[in-house]
Amino acid sequence: MSVDLEKILRPVESPMAPYEPKYMMLASGEPVVVRQVFRDEIPDLLKHVEPLIHVERDYYDVVAARVYAELIGYYTHRFQDQYVLALQVDGELAAIVNGRQVTPKLGLSLHTLALRRGLRIGAHGFAAKMEYHIDALGHDEVLIVAESPIGFRRWMIEYKLEKRFDIPHELGGVPSWALTRELFDRARSSLVVGRRPVPPELLEKALEKILPPSDPPTPPLDPLAATRALYDPTATALVAQRWEMEKGAQDA
Ligand SMILES: CC(C)(COP(=O)(O)OP(=O)(O)OC[C@H]1O[C@@H](n2cnc3c(N)ncnc32)[C@H](O)[C@@H]1OP(=O)(O)O)[C@@H](O)C(=O)NCCC(=O)NCCS
Repeated sequence: MSVDLEKILRPVESPMAPYEPKYMMLASGEPVVVRQVFRDEIPDLLKHVEPLIHVERDYYDVVAARVYAELIGYYTHRFQDQYVLALQVDGELAAIVNGRQVTPKLGLSLHTLALRRGLRIGAHGFAAKMEYHIDALGHDEVLIVAESPIGFRRWMIEYKLEKRFDIPHELGGVPSWALTRELFDRARSSLVVGRRPVPPELLEKALEKILPPSDPPTPPLDPLAATRALYDPTATALVAQRWEMEKGAQDA
C-alpha cells in the first residue's frame, strides 16, 4: 500500500542533460569550481543554508528559507525536475544556485544564494545556471524573479531581462521576467565566464566534500539593524540614532 502511494507522490523525472563542471578565477585570484550537486549530497548543503534563514539582511532569510524547502523537496523526491549547482572555492561552499525545467523548451530559475560576499560569486552562479538552461537543456527562455534589490540589479538590469508580467512566477506568484536565448547570446562575452575541463585536482577537491563556508553572512549584533538597512542602505539613520544614544549616555 505505502509503496503504491509513494509512486503517486513521487514525480516522474524528465531526462535532463548533466551540467558539465567549469571553473573560473575570482577577483581574489582564487579558482572557483561550478558543479552539479546530486541528491545524496543535499544534506551537506542544508546545514549551511539553515543558519542563513536567520539573517534578515539583504533578504537572506526569505531566500534561504525557500532554498531550504526546495532542497528538501529535491532530496525527498517531492519536486519536479529540479537541478542544483554549487560553487566551491578550495572545496568550501561559496554559492548555491538552483532551477527547474518546466517544459523541454522552458526553464525556471529558482534561487541564487551567495555564501561568500563581494566577489561576484553569486553573479557567476547565476550565469552558470542560465548557460545550463540555454546551452545544455536547450531551453528557449528562462523565467526569473528577484527577491532582493541586489538580485534585481544583477539579473534584470545586467541582462536587460524582458517582462513576462502575464505569467505568475512559481516563487510567490509574482510577475515573471525572462531571459531569452537572444539576451543570453548578447551577454555571453561579458557576463558568462569559465573554462572547461576543470583541472583534475580542482575537480577532485570539489567533489571530495562540500566544506563549510569560511565567512558566511551572519545576523547583525543589533537585531533591528537589518530591518532599518532595508530602507536605509547606507545606514545613515542608524548611525545618527547611535550617536544620539551615545550622547544621551554621556550627558546623563
Ligand atoms: C544576490 C546575490 C546572489 C548576489 O551575489 P554576488 O553577485 O556574489 O554579489 P554580493 O552579494 O557579494 O555583492 C552585491 C553587492 O553588495 C555589496 N556587498 C554587500 N555586502 C557585502 C559584503 N559583505 N562584502 C562585500 N561586498 C558586499 C557588493 O559590493 C556588491 O556591490 P556591486 O553590486 O556594486 O558589485 C547575493 O547578494 C545573495 O545571495 N543575496 C541574498 C539572497 C538573494 O537575494 N538572492 C537573489 C534572489 S533574486
